[in-house]
Amino acid sequence: MAQKKIVGLLIGRENTFPGPFLDIVNHRGASDGITAELAVLGGTPELSEPSHAVLVDRISHEVPYYRAHLKSAALQGTTVINDPFWWEADEKFFECTLARKLGVAVPRTVVLPNKQYIPDIDQQYSLRNLRYPLDWEAIAGYTGLPAVLKPNTGGGWKDVFIVNSIEELITAYDQTGLKTMILQEFIDWDDYVRCICVGREHVLPIRYNPRAPFHERYQIHNPPVGRLRDQAIKDARTLVDALGYDMDTVEFAVRDDVLYAIDFLNPAPDFDNFSIKEENFGWVLDKMCDLVLSYARGDTKPPWRNEYRWWKHVDKTAAPDPIQA
Ligand SMILES: Nc1ncnc2c1ncn2[C@@H]1O[C@H](COP(=O)(O)OP(=O)(O)OP(=O)(O)O)[C@@H](O)[C@H]1O
Ligand SMILES: [Mg+2]
Repeated sequence: MAQKKIVGLLIGRENTFPGPFLDIVNHRGASDGITAELAVLGGTPELSEPSHAVLVDRISHEVPYYRAHLKSAALQGTTVINDPFWWEADEKFFECTLARKLGVAVPRTVVLPNKQYIPDIDQQYSLRNLRYPLDWEAIAGYTGLPAVLKPNTGGGWKDVFIVNSIEELITAYDQTGLKTMILQEFIDWDDYVRCICVGREHVLPIRYNPRAPFHERYQIHNPPVGRLRDQAIKDARTLVDALGYDMDTVEFAVRDDVLYAIDFLNPAPDFDNFSIKEENFGWVLDKMCDLVLSYARGDTKPPWRNEYRWWKHVDKTAAPDPIQA
């Protein structure tokens, strides 16, 4: 089934990245017949000729229909950035275990049972596998205090608590409702680096100050250098390559020369020019455009393409319709 060479972009509220991204892909891709546009989707049939060679997904975490479309499109040959199946790994506790396995430093971390459940959960019968009450002394003994209580999934600093005592920990935990939370050693950092990562290979380390107001966090006049820069690039590459993420940000808190990975599952990273600043914005545009063009031309194959079991069972060239077969 011949694929059209259209690059589609799915976006949320962001306004600074989409326009220049589409313009540059259209410009650079013209000689190869590649065009770029905002994807327009609705009512996806289960089997159809893929409308896009590449889809760049910046918003399916908030619009679930897009995720359903993207998984089906990926199965039918569209290259999706980021891989919609890997998105399901977007959990901070998983990322900590993965980092430990890969030899990347992370804060000591514990995942906790939820505070509350949906009404269908019966307190007497549905939770028989849960230890109750929790051994808060042992949990806080492992992470140390102060510690950070934060959601296992999510972003935007929502429900991130810093707790200094077991009383504060329990008070914060009692406010977390239906969310699965993790408790993490608080890294009292003396330096902080955020890396923008594109194509599992290109890494731009930027000094970052999470204590500053939102628009001043990326510190462009003070780039990381020397060992700090080298280590950040090395660890960020290790993580994004293991995750197969083509766009991501990886954050490190630095304490006593150790880079602790704090948050590295950000599969729809902030690409707005007012937060990452103009020079970094230019870097992101350049690398993202080259990446999608390389996928659209077929110069690069998505690394995960053959890693799912179904590929063994699907005739990738003919894709027969199972209903008519
Ligand atoms: N273990 C920790 N030690 C020290 N500071 C931490 C720790 N965990 C989180 N923080 C602080 O809280 C901020 C938000 O935490 P985190 O990045 O995990 O949440 P997020 O909601 O995914 O944020 P973002 O929207 O920036 O991706 C971090 O940028 C960092 O400043
Ligand atoms: Mg995050």
